[in-house]
Amino acid sequence: MGDIKAVITGVAGFVPEGIITNKDLEKMVETSDEWIHSRTGIKQRHIEKDPNKACSDLVVGAVQNLINKTGLDILDVEMIIVATVTADYPFPDTANIAASKLGAKNAFGYDINAACSGFLYALTTASKFIETGTYKKILVVGADQMSSILNYEDRTTCILFGDGAGAVLLEPSEGPHGIQDAILRADGAGAEFLHMKAGGSMSPATVDTVNARQHFVYQEGKVVFKAAIKGMSESISDLLAQNNLSKDDIDWMIPHQANKRIIYGVADFIGFPHEKVLVNIENYGNTTAGTIPLCLSDFEGQFKKGDKIILTAFGGGFTWGAILLEWNY
Ligand code: COA
Repeated sequence: MGDIKAVITGVAGFVPEGIITNKDLEKMVETSDEWIHSRTGIKQRHIEKDPNKACSDLVVGAVQNLINKTGLDILDVEMIIVATVTADYPFPDTANIAASKLGAKNAFGYDINAACSGFLYALTTASKFIETGTYKKILVVGADQMSSILNYEDRTTCILFGDGAGAVLLEPSEGPHGIQDAILRADGAGAEFLHMKAGGSMSPATVDTVNARQHFVYQEGKVVFKAAIKGMSESISDLLAQNNLSKDDIDWMIPHQANKRIIYGVADFIGFPHEKVLVNIENYGNTTAGTIPLCLSDFEGQFKKGDKIILTAFGGGFTWGAILLEWNY
């Protein structure tokens, strides 16, 4: 133990075909393309329009794309961790359902619910199973069907989110690259500012909760905005200090894609050049646990072996953190 590093050996993304543009939203709520784009950076988001499709289908889409790219034999996969807040059902886990749909007969898995930081939590968890020599092939997937929990009459939230997923394959390596370090944080006192009011044990679903539209994302945007910049900036600074690195040693930053102003707010706070910050929010909006692996997938062609990459996220919980990794291929 100690000599094995967990390395990402493949990545792929998946989004449903349906698209809602800002112009489409103008017909649904009182908003404008100009307001949405200038305040958030978002132009469009992908939405699953088939009522028979759920989060597990996003997972399957991303993993299938990964299989097509890498030739992975699904029977070799030992574990699947799915980060999501939009599981198919309260139970069982979406990881379980997706494993069955994929024919991953030799894998077990579970879901991690850490909202927009879910992929960081899941990747860190998976890396420990690899570093200890317990497993050799783990799929880590961030997937959210946010359209299933959005109130399309609330212009302050429905414009922000979209559906999507990204998957990485994590394997052991004896080389120097791979996951180097992580800082994960949480503060449950932040729950009041970003949560779903009903549908859990605190307030089980009733006709009244449905009528009060309490099964949707509730957010106090301004509070979350400020906490997100602070949380991500501090975790990056702490991670750099903990690894005796300066911001100049980092090749790429991949922040959670919630709002372009938050993303560049973080970059400016730590003095990181904008051209090294990878952003694809324009096409997808905030896909919650899906944003970071979708970004890894979109920009994969730009990475060189040994590149130092910082992943960072902030989300409901509150949850936040940062991961330092070195690209392996
Ligand atoms: N279209 C047009 N106007 C809108 C609007 C919309 N979709 N949503 C809000 N507005 C209005 C507000 O009602 C407000 O009007 P008022 O001044 O008359 O009261 C005005 O625009 C400014 O609203 P405000 O909330 O101050 O805007 P903002 O600059 O804070 O941007 C968010 C709002 C939601 C985009 C921003 O707070 C944000 O991104 N928060 C973090 C969200 C997030 O990323 N969450 C996910 C987890 S990290």
